[in-house]
Amino acid sequence: MKMDERRVLSLRNVLMVSLALNVGLILRIGYVGESWRRSKQSFSGLCLEKKQENRGASMADSSLKVVHVSERNHVSSSSTSSTARTEFEDAGESVINLEQGDPTMYERYWKEMGEKTTLVISGWQSISYFSDLTNLCWFLEPSFADSVIRLHKLVGNAVTQDRHIVVGTGSTQLFQAALYALCPPNGSEPMSVVSAAPYYSSYPLMTDFLKSGLYKWGGDAHRFSKDDNNNNRRPYIEIVTSPNNPDGSTRRAVVNRIDGILVHDLAYYWPQYTPITSPADHDLMLFTVSKSTGHAGTRIGWALVKDKEVAKKMTKFIELNTIGVSKDSQLRAAKILQAVADSCDRGGVGSPEEGQATFFEYSHNLMTKRWNQLRAAVEKSQLFSLPEFPCGFCKFSAQSFQSQPAFAWLKCEGEMEDCESLLRRWRILSRGGKHFGDTPKYVRISMLPRDQIFHLFTHRGGIIYQDLGKKIKRLLYLLTKN
Ligand SMILES: Cc1ncc(COP(=O)(O)O)c(C=O)c1O
Repeated sequence: MKMDERRVLSLRNVLMVSLALNVGLILRIGYVGESWRRSKQSFSGLCLEKKQENRGASMADSSLKVVHVSERNHVSSSSTSSTARTEFEDAGESVINLEQGDPTMYERYWKEMGEKTTLVISGWQSISYFSDLTNLCWFLEPSFADSVIRLHKLVGNAVTQDRHIVVGTGSTQLFQAALYALCPPNGSEPMSVVSAAPYYSSYPLMTDFLKSGLYKWGGDAHRFSKDDNNNNRRPYIEIVTSPNNPDGSTRRAVVNRIDGILVHDLAYYWPQYTPITSPADHDLMLFTVSKSTGHAGTRIGWALVKDKEVAKKMTKFIELNTIGVSKDSQLRAAKILQAVADSCDRGGVGSPEEGQATFFEYSHNLMTKRWNQLRAAVEKSQLFSLPEFPCGFCKFSAQSFQSQPAFAWLKCEGEMEDCESLLRRWRILSRGGKHFGDTPKYVRISMLPRDQIFHLFTHRGGIIYQDLGKKIKRLLYLLTKN
């Protein structure tokens, strides 16, 4: 065989192999596109195939079908923009940012609630630094404390009796206040702060940011060695996040030493995400309006603390850090929490447009719908997989369902090692597994964006299908040319 003939043959071989690989890929991704289109029709979040009338989610269906691309070419939503295009017009060029857990999915509900949550604060109000000098946490607004207690009692997700409430600028500030309060001031070495991987990616960053002499990030709780080289017990604080960010699992402490100190981050222990099986009853529990009602911008969180001295030290931390917490924000958060509790008290029949759906009914149904859409797509794709959650009975809603977390912990199956890069090729931004102490085969995807962005995300599958179709045509052309 001549040299030239051999060269042509090997080029053909390369092209054939390449074509076969691409056909395999397109067939798989074809399923994604197909199922992403089809899955819009099926919604069932309840166990045993029990279907529920999707009152809340229907509001999302009728939502504005507009997106526009902001200056930085990231997708954002707008009801009035003249540059608005329908979601179907997106040709795959806009960036879908699902990297952060910005809870804008709740915006629509609160818009529909209209004046019910409007708060007017006059110029003379909320002037003083102080809220309640009789309270250990002197900057805690009494109306905010009342609304916290009322909502926990109603939902049944946490014990509030004999607890001190400490308010913070988001639970982020309370996390740091808790570390400060729980560490002995003159320990021989910094206390290790651990959490089971995959853990919330901010924990290591927040813990080590100021290089404190009191504590340091100790990594994955499963790998924490309890004793030092001299067989002395190493002190530690374990953060237990349940349901967990990023993987949605229900968790307990894993180090389990009798003198271990625990902080329970219960940001997602609300009935839209997971069945409420019993009131949480731990020494130090953190909550936030960011993920309960979606008011991340209000920057309000609260801690339920058993021990008076710990609550006092947390209060001291916040006093030195920000001299208290915005009263305006606390009043607003109180109004929102009361509105949520009012909606539950009314029983929630009817649509949010009529102002009657309960907040949790609406948000639960919307999450169910989104998870059904995502699961249908992932199941058929054979490219990705998602965690499965056991069914649990929710005492609040009196129904059994599987957790439907605020984040999808997506795994790339097969040979693909870097799931974040793979999705970025399709202009979908996610957060890679290594940020959470896991492998890059995983990514975290936010399930909490506005309706338009989630719809765009589900439509991106079809665009990927078309893109790969074009690539195959090009390969065929090259083959026939040779
Ligand atoms: C587990 C967990 N804790 C705390 C926070 C932060 O909450 P906040 O907005 O109240 O600071 C988040 C935010 O994503 C979170 O996922």
